[in-house]
Formats: sequence, C-alpha cells, structure tokens
Amino acid sequence: MRIIAFHSYKGGTGKTHLSANLATVLARKGHKTALLDLDFRGPNLQTLCGVDSEVTINDLLFDPDLKGRDLLVSFEDQYKIPLFAAFASTDFRKMSDIVRADKKQRQRSLKRILRLRDELSESGFDYTIIDTSPGVQMESIDGLVISDVTCLVLKADDFDISGTKSMVQQLYSLLDSKNYVVLNRVVAETCPPEHGVWSDKDMELVSTFEKTITEEMRMDVLTSIPCFCEVAREGSRSIFSLQHPDHPFSKNIEVLATRILDGFSAE
Ligand SMILES: Nc1ncnc2c1ncn2[C@@H]1O[C@H](COP(=O)(O)OP(=O)(O)O)[C@@H](O)[C@H]1O
Ligand SMILES: [Mg+2]
Repeated sequence: MRIIAFHSYKGGTGKTHLSANLATVLARKGHKTALLDLDFRGPNLQTLCGVDSEVTINDLLFDPDLKGRDLLVSFEDQYKIPLFAAFASTDFRKMSDIVRADKKQRQRSLKRILRLRDELSESGFDYTIIDTSPGVQMESIDGLVISDVTCLVLKADDFDISGTKSMVQQLYSLLDSKNYVVLNRVVAETCPPEHGVWSDKDMELVSTFEKTITEEMRMDVLTSIPCFCEVAREGSRSIFSLQHPDHPFSKNIEVLATRILDGFSAE
C-alpha cells in the first residue's frame, strides 16, 4: 500500500478537494483506496462526502478497542468504485480533546495511526490518501510521517513564500517521503484555460512560475491545476470529479494521479 498526504503551510489551498478527488480518481481506476481525514482542527471531508459519521478517527485515537473497520465508510454501493473513507469529528468537544492532548496521548495517537495504516495494508488497500491540517500541528506530522509521498499544496495566487520555505526546510527534511509541490487555483491570462488546456502564452507563464517555485522550494512541481469557477462554485458540497468526471478539473486530477503513480513505478 502506498500513502499520499496533502499538506500546506496555510489553509484554503485545496488540500481537502485534492485529497478527495485524487482518492476518487484512483478508486475509479480500480484501486482499493482509503481516504483519511487527519485535519482534526478544520475537518470538512464529511461535508464533501455527504456523510454524517458516528465513529471517527478522533474516537480511534482515544479508544484502544476501536479498529479501522469500525470507522471506515464504504462508497462501493453508492458509487460502484472501491472507495472508503474515515473521517475526523466535527464535534467541538472531540476537536478540543485533540488540541489539548498531552505528550502521552500524542504518543498513543501516533501508535494508533500506525496501527490503522497496518490494518489498511493488511486489508488489501492499494492507496491511502491523507488530508491534513495546515502548518506544523502534531497530528498533521503523524500523517506525513507515515506517507510515501507528500504533496505541498500552494494556492498560486496567495502563498507565504518565507513561511512555506521555512516549514519545508525544517519539517520536510525530517520526512522519509518523496515531497512535491502541487500548484492549485492557478490563474493565467485566460482563466480558466479553454478545455482545461493552457494556451502557449499561458503555458510559458505557468512554466516560469513552476521554475521559480522549484528553485525557491527545492522541490519539483508535480502539476499546476487551474482555478475553475465551477469547482469554487460547487464549494464543499460534493466530490467534484464524482459528479463531473469529464470536466477539465477532473482531467487535471487524473494527470496528478498518473504523475504520482509514475513516480512509484520509477522507484
Ligand atoms: N482548482 C480549483 N479551482 C477553483 N476552486 C478551487 C480549486 N481547488 C479548490 N478550490 C476551492 O478552494 C476552497 C478551499 O479548498 P479546500 O480543499 O477546502 O482547502 P483546504 O482543505 O486546503 O483548506 C474551496 O472552496 C474549493 O471549492
Ligand atoms: Mg481542508
């Protein structure tokens, strides 16, 4: 099983959307895929997936008797793809339990995340996709620690280069994962690009920007996903590529999936 995490320095870059849509695309290709919400501070995968989950990953972190299978929600019947998800709680009390956790509880949490990973792997999952909290929250780091690939999502029109750089230098250098930048909500002259494909002129702009990011961050840019009004308009109501598999945004997620999988096969 391979694990792919989406992380960022700031909120609102598109981590949740990219996680859910990548998981959907991988499951549509026939891969058994688990989507995990480790964004305990701002969980919104339940809303995106249209689920009201009673048992969450928060419970798993505090209850030694719970297993991953007690909280995984299956979308197999609903969408006819091997997609499963485990959610973070939106109950304020449970959210603050995570924030207030002491050192002992944090160690227990990491152990239970590792146990969940092993259980998913033993249950035949091909991929696990993790949505994390922005910044250097402990629970995000737990997610990054178990990942094979970390995608640092940058919202191209608004990112803090010095903050992001210092997080990358200090945190990512400790990770074993392969780390890439994913540029999201990219705006060029023609926005969104016609049929999802940049014009030559815009391609030049985007490539120059990618080059600058690669030099600044010392990380490869995996892909640049345009800003699509339809995606923004839909907000957090549903997984976009499930509803619109042929939309250019969904095609961009397919490119992202292919590049990540190509990276695995090149190892
Ligand atoms: N490529 C995109 N084009 C347009 N809007 C996007 C795109 N990606 C994400 N969004 C919008 O950006 C907002 C933030 O996305 P979200 O996934 O919730 O970010 P995060 O999880 O990093 O906080 C959402 O309203 C979403 O609809
Ligand atoms: Mg989010």
